[in-house]
Amino acid sequence: MTTTQSPDAALDAHLDKTHDARLESYREFLRIPSISALPEHAPDVRRAAEWLAHALRTAGLENVAVEETSFHPVVYADWLHAEGAPTALVYGHYDVQPVDPLDLWTSPPFEPVVVDGRMLARGAADDKGQVHAHAMAAAALMATRGGFPINVRYVFEGAEESGSEGLDAWLTANRDRLTSDVAIISDTGFFEGNIPAITVGLRGLMYAQIDVVGSPVDLHSGSYGGAVQNPANALAQIIAALKGPDGRIRIPGFYDAVVALTEEEHAAIAELPFDEDEYRARRHVGELVGEVGYSTLERRSTRPTLDVNGVWGGFQGHGTKTIIPAHAHAKVSCRLVTAQEPHDIFVKFRDFVLEIAPPGVKVTVQDLGGGRPSHTPVDHPMTRAAARALEATFGRAPVFIREGGSIPVAASFESILGLPVVLLGFTQPNENAHAPDEWMSLDNYEGAIRAIVATFDEIATLGSSHRE
Ligand code: BES
Ligand code: ZN
Repeated sequence: MTTTQSPDAALDAHLDKTHDARLESYREFLRIPSISALPEHAPDVRRAAEWLAHALRTAGLENVAVEETSFHPVVYADWLHAEGAPTALVYGHYDVQPVDPLDLWTSPPFEPVVVDGRMLARGAADDKGQVHAHAMAAAALMATRGGFPINVRYVFEGAEESGSEGLDAWLTANRDRLTSDVAIISDTGFFEGNIPAITVGLRGLMYAQIDVVGSPVDLHSGSYGGAVQNPANALAQIIAALKGPDGRIRIPGFYDAVVALTEEEHAAIAELPFDEDEYRARRHVGELVGEVGYSTLERRSTRPTLDVNGVWGGFQGHGTKTIIPAHAHAKVSCRLVTAQEPHDIFVKFRDFVLEIAPPGVKVTVQDLGGGRPSHTPVDHPMTRAAARALEATFGRAPVFIREGGSIPVAASFESILGLPVVLLGFTQPNENAHAPDEWMSLDNYEGAIRAIVATFDEIATLGSSHRE
């Protein structure tokens, strides 16, 4: 996708002149292994926060601070001199997912390289690339116009990939100083075929761990096999009972809070330009499977799911070892929709697992957190403003889509700060987020910078609903 030339000649000149330095800065940011989930990387997460704060300060933003939460820090910055104009709170996250399995990367995850117009590294797309594009848009505005057309506050998080622990408390504690008119979240992407998109629905998440324990030590499977319960078999039995062959989740009450799509919503999804064969082929999967009675697009964004994310226990080495393992474990998560509440679903999940657990083993279920689903308005003037900016930048009107992923803070911006949310993201749909060889298209990255500036200009034409 090529971006159309912006009518802003000074911006074009600035972006041309700073192109190489910008890419080097992007690579520098990506070299910091800010994996929020792994305690040994906590200093790197902080280093990424400091790096980002420095970049924002250099851009000319004010009140730049690395602020503490109960987990990883938040990076805050603002520029509030557009009197009478609306205020946008911009959100992204500078933490990344773990990188294993390392042997499946074509180049090391924290040694970014550009190959065929793509930046290849962990975080290139999700979400450091988008955070970096915001920092570069800010720098471009300060350099070419000496300021912004609107007021902006930046809130960049370091724990999104770990369930945003500590963020709600930080938002609540800072509610009064975060007054804004809209929250712009840049952590989503374009639609299949690299069509510009605005996401208007995200699924929530419930994450749990099942631990199954038998004898305190492994037992010889010849001497004991047949006489004692095998924790790995018991775990497999539990997992197999969670979902039917029709793709329906069998936990009692699981669907209670799921609201069916309206005719209009159903029709809007059916109208999206989606080629199922191409989608399947690009992911190298033989066949698409899912809940009976729903299309692939509906299954992956409007329906709740249950998936095993990891399973372990027993012998993993080469060759054979004849044992009854002492214990077995699984990480299981559910994507949630409409009014499903993570904790309520956890309780239902736990109770069902304990009910169906076979005898002879001790089964426990831990709550590993989650987040609520969210829906953002298609018709809000802020959404319309962003849509105009995307069309002007990329030469094509955006489609409005629902995404299957989760951004827990979207619901928090609405409930804690009372803000409408616009999900304005720029990655491509097959960018390998959370997987080896994550990449960001440099055309999308450069387009993002222009589209961000254009969005601010469009928002400036709307009034502010509050006064500083
Ligand atoms: N950028 C994603 C969210 C996303 C994924 C949006 C796919 C649109 C499509 C985000 O960084 C993410 O991965 N979030 C986690 C949240 C979880 C850890 C609470 C997710 O969805 O797994
Ligand atoms: Zn993300």
